[in-house]
Amino acid sequence: MAMQLIIRRPDDWHLHFRDGAMMERVVPFTARQFERAIVMPNLVPPVTSIHAAREYRKRIMAAVPDGMSFTPLMTAYLTDNISADEVETGHRDGVWTAAKLYPAGATTNSDSAVTDVANLHGVLDRMEAIGMPLCVHGEVTGSDVDVFDREARFIDEILLPLIAIFPDLKVVFEHITTKDAVDFVLSAPANVAATITPQHLMLNRNALFEGGLRPHAYCLPVVKRERHRLAVRAAATSGDPKFFLGTDSAPHPRHAKESACGCAGIFNAPHALECYAQVFEEEGVLDRLEGFASEHGPAFYGLPLNEGTVTLEKVDNVIPDMIENGDDPLVPFRAGQTIPWKFVG
Ligand code: NCD
Ligand code: ZN
Repeated sequence: MAMQLIIRRPDDWHLHFRDGAMMERVVPFTARQFERAIVMPNLVPPVTSIHAAREYRKRIMAAVPDGMSFTPLMTAYLTDNISADEVETGHRDGVWTAAKLYPAGATTNSDSAVTDVANLHGVLDRMEAIGMPLCVHGEVTGSDVDVFDREARFIDEILLPLIAIFPDLKVVFEHITTKDAVDFVLSAPANVAATITPQHLMLNRNALFEGGLRPHAYCLPVVKRERHRLAVRAAATSGDPKFFLGTDSAPHPRHAKESACGCAGIFNAPHALECYAQVFEEEGVLDRLEGFASEHGPAFYGLPLNEGTVTLEKVDNVIPDMIENGDDPLVPFRAGQTIPWKFVG
């Protein structure tokens, strides 16, 4: 019989579901593996009101297949002029678990986001007071800044000053990609944590150019040099509760990825947990997967641990080349490859 790994049912602390038919297609993949997920608000138009968040949550719930237990945790899309009262009310009413800071222009559907963090000081002051977490896309946006340096520059120019002004604000530095980010999180107080994706644990920037241009390895923040991947891997597998699972699963239809101007985003939801298991096994610390996947996130967010368990089996698992999606398929992370773990329920 295949070796089994049984862990407490995990959560995904950062992903993109989109809306409409795409959302209906992708929600079941996440609901199968995860009990809860922090859902990003970068829709068109973005989720900037309590009403929009409630309606979006209803649509997601309706897409959860019968018999699956899944709770979407919604986020407010911060803009230059969102009101502190709206953010606080949404949090108190249980609609918004956290709020999301996108620097304007940093990534997919971030054009109406924050042009200057100074415009958010009133909102952040309120969030700090009520203990509402801030999820941060940590990249500066100036076209003069090398794309591989944008995360490191964000730490110095935005994050360090921000946590000096709001020392008790709960901050999740999302999808970290660099040693700089790991070092920053380690040196920051306990109210600063980070999520880590499968792709940033498994790929370095060579993956973008392996034998030709590889759009399915392209996401933001872009994958970095090997030394950064190793630092991020060490952090994820260290057992430190400041680091937890966030897939950043970000589906785009194949034509939008395989294009002269391909979208950023990797769709990893179908096999996310297996990818993490592979990394933890390679590092010889499978026993730490449960903390990273199922315990550190709830502890940071102040939410209860999940009750049930999930089971992974050590068997060859061939990832499909594509996943049917109307007339424009999705290409999953690790498409066509064989990975050593399989989620069985
Ligand atoms: C995300 C998306 O497509 O919405 N893309 C990505 O590459 N990660 C946006 C984001 O999280 O930056
Ligand atoms: Zn994201």
